[in-house]
Amino acid sequence: MNDSLIQLRREYSRRSLNEQDVDPNPFVQFGHWLDEAIRSEMIEPNAMILATASADALPSARVVLLKGFDERGFLFFTNYESRKAEELRKNPQAALLFYWGELGRQVRIEGTVEVASREESREYFRTRPMESRIGAWASKQSSVIPGRAFLEEQVNRVKQQFPDDEVPLPPFWGGFRLKPAAFEFWQGRENRLHDRLRYSPKGGLWVIERLSP
Ligand SMILES: Cc1cc2nc3c(=O)[nH]c(=O)nc-3n(C[C@H](O)[C@H](O)[C@H](O)COP(=O)(O)O)c2cc1C
Repeated sequence: MNDSLIQLRREYSRRSLNEQDVDPNPFVQFGHWLDEAIRSEMIEPNAMILATASADALPSARVVLLKGFDERGFLFFTNYESRKAEELRKNPQAALLFYWGELGRQVRIEGTVEVASREESREYFRTRPMESRIGAWASKQSSVIPGRAFLEEQVNRVKQQFPDDEVPLPPFWGGFRLKPAAFEFWQGRENRLHDRLRYSPKGGLWVIERLSP
């Protein structure tokens, strides 16, 4: 790699974000933007970056899929023994980031993460295809493995363990819910004069403030 910077220019659409037009409730506003992202037919509009930090404040980030949201928070599913889960257990503060490039949009959400109920995790797990239920059992997520063949052996082992296609929720797998303490909606505009609106909770309501781009 040489030292020339990557030069890409993009044209932002005429979309804008105004204090008068946004919903006073950030969950409702998020729902509008998620709907538009889904309607735009982009790949995985529910993909979000989850940023965590270890107990000694070393950050890490990865993509997970949003599987539901309401006023209680943003729900995703994972392995409870993975690196992210380990970090969340020791430091439940986390951030989510949605980047919808086709729409020139970003949403940042920060908050505290809680473990979802077993019932909720069981209900979601039941909806997953058989192969991915087997995959959840077979993968000790984030651990070092000797090679691809090892994973395939684990899959075969799980298939023998549950021969009648009844694959229950693994005890080490389930949901987390991030309860937002702040949202920021970002709409790309021309000449770097982007719109940024931050929602912060105050006295049971959400205060909306504009941030400089
Ligand atoms: C598009 C996409 C969606 C993903 N969805 C999930 C998910 O919902 N849950 C999950 O545990 N990992 C998901 N992953 C894998 C994670 O990014 C990551 O590799 C894995 O969870 C291990 O992370 P950790 O070692 O930090 O715990 C997804 C990856 C991509 C690229």
